[in-house]
Amino acid sequence: MRRVLITGATSGLGREMALQLARQGCRLALTGRRADRLAAVAAEARAAGGDPLPLAGSVSDPADVRRHYAEIREKWGGLDWAILNAGVGDSKNALEFSAENYRWTFATNVFGAANWLEAVLPGMVAAGSGVVAGISSLAGMRGLPNSGSYCASKAALTAMLESTRIDLRGTGVSVVTVCPGFVKSELTDRNDPRKMLFLMETPAGVRCILDGIAQRRPFVHFPWPLSPVMAHIAPVVPCWLWDLAVSPFGRYRKKPYAEPGGARGH
Ligand SMILES: NC(=O)c1ccc[n+]([C@@H]2O[C@H](COP(=O)([O-])OP(=O)(O)OC[C@H]3O[C@@H](n4cnc5c(N)ncnc54)[C@H](OP(=O)(O)O)[C@@H]3O)[C@@H](O)[C@H]2O)c1
Repeated sequence: MRRVLITGATSGLGREMALQLARQGCRLALTGRRADRLAAVAAEARAAGGDPLPLAGSVSDPADVRRHYAEIREKWGGLDWAILNAGVGDSKNALEFSAENYRWTFATNVFGAANWLEAVLPGMVAAGSGVVAGISSLAGMRGLPNSGSYCASKAALTAMLESTRIDLRGTGVSVVTVCPGFVKSELTDRNDPRKMLFLMETPAGVRCILDGIAQRRPFVHFPWPLSPVMAHIAPVVPCWLWDLAVSPFGRYRKKPYAEPGGARGH
């Protein structure tokens, strides 16, 4: 039975990945900070045929990550897939530039993934097998308005995963970088719908992610036609044209997180 870690499984893509993999009978280590939501997703996964192990805590706390991985090792001996999905994002215009907003975003999107890479890679390399998939974003391909910290964090995550993939060549461990466009979730529910081109339903987006991971594709991006434009054309568009094309989207801002300060804590 495949042993899979999904970080950020309490909502959106993470929850849907848990349910689709549960239907395949997987063992599922599920993480997230909202313990009540985690317990509910674990119950859904069990009802769908999976074997869930709910692990409440934060990816940005190295002690939580060490504790969670120790529990996984003790119960299952290791992991076959690690899906590093936990992520946050908020709107902030550079006219209100906030270094704290960057620290908050990077704590989860970059250092949360780094904490889990540090935990899982030695065991996978020793076993000579495994897949690590990081859920990055097409937003990491180029700077977008009101999204500096999110774009920068996803650009950093994409580069971190690519370097890791190259370093792991020949070890038997694959690294999959996933760059979705817009998929329905709690994150995108806070966006202005006019801003989200080619918005996908959650189950369809997750099928693209899981197919890409199963095939161990190094770079998974969707949906067509947004993804080839963002992944292959946007990086070579001159700055004057890029600024002209994307600045109209700066009119729309994400609704803030329901809780004050934007975060549910690190
Ligand atoms: N939806 C899209 O269109 C889209 C597009 C591109 C990339 N992505 C990426 O896909 C991933 C999933 O996002 P989503 O769209 O499904 O949004 P979502 O519904 O808001 O889910 C985010 C998940 O991350 C978890 N999380 C956040 N901070 C965490 C932390 N410090 N420790 C542990 N878990 C944490 C949340 O759980 P708790 O709050 O319970 O901790 C939640 O389960 C993110 O990395 C996002 O950047 C999404």
